[in-house]
Amino acid sequence: MFTAILRRQVRSHKLSRNGGAYLRITMKRCTQADISLLCELSRATFTDAFAAENDPDELTEFLAGRYSEDKLMSEMADDGSSFYFLYCGDFPAGYIKINLVPSQSDINDPDSLEIERIYVLRNFQGRGIGGHAIAAAADMARTFGKKYIWLGVWENNERAISFYKKQGFYRIGAHSFFIGRNEQTDYIMRRDL
Ligand SMILES: CC(C)(COP(=O)(O)OP(=O)(O)OC[C@H]1O[C@@H](n2cnc3c(N)ncnc32)[C@H](O)[C@@H]1OP(=O)(O)O)[C@@H](O)C(=O)NCCC(=O)NCCS
Repeated sequence: MFTAILRRQVRSHKLSRNGGAYLRITMKRCTQADISLLCELSRATFTDAFAAENDPDELTEFLAGRYSEDKLMSEMADDGSSFYFLYCGDFPAGYIKINLVPSQSDINDPDSLEIERIYVLRNFQGRGIGGHAIAAAADMARTFGKKYIWLGVWENNERAISFYKKQGFYRIGAHSFFIGRNEQTDYIMRRDL
């Protein structure tokens, strides 16, 4: 799914990490011109994270619908939502989607900012990229005068849950999330600012 060129770059970054190279983490807001990269990154990171636990046909159908260019383009056109690429050096290693009221997937409290998606390619995980993105989202929320940030995380995604706890999030509820007919439970977690 991820193109051959991007895969080669991912491999070379893995080598540079093993060699101890330091690469700066930066963020760039996605525009409509970036839609094809956002689409690829969304599909690749979701597959990385959840292919093992889901039926392949249902996952393919889910990715084609949820992460089509048209769907992502309409999400990006929503004034309450914004997407940012997470760069490691000059490589787009992940992305984050944040939502303000009235565009949140749940809660919709004007005092809050939602992190609806935060995904880092597997070979780039554990290098501080996710932590950088959470800190940036918290800074944005403070700038907007919000009191807290929140997100939903699959109840069985233990690594992400432990990452969020280290980042100061705590559980405040749960809601359902569907991949095809497969109903899953997401914990809702909040971090006060
Ligand atoms: C969860 C996620 C966004 C964190 O981003 P990250 O760049 O790996 O996070 P950081 O490097 O800033 O922090 C890593 C910390 O998270 C934990 N962690 C979570 N997943 C990890 C992984 N695959 N590899 C290494 N550490 C991981 C570790 O405990 C680590 O803690 P430490 O810094 O004390 O060692 C990222 O691992 C990811 O995209 N995971 C798969 C997709 C996913 O689950 N997204 C969240 C959906 S709600």
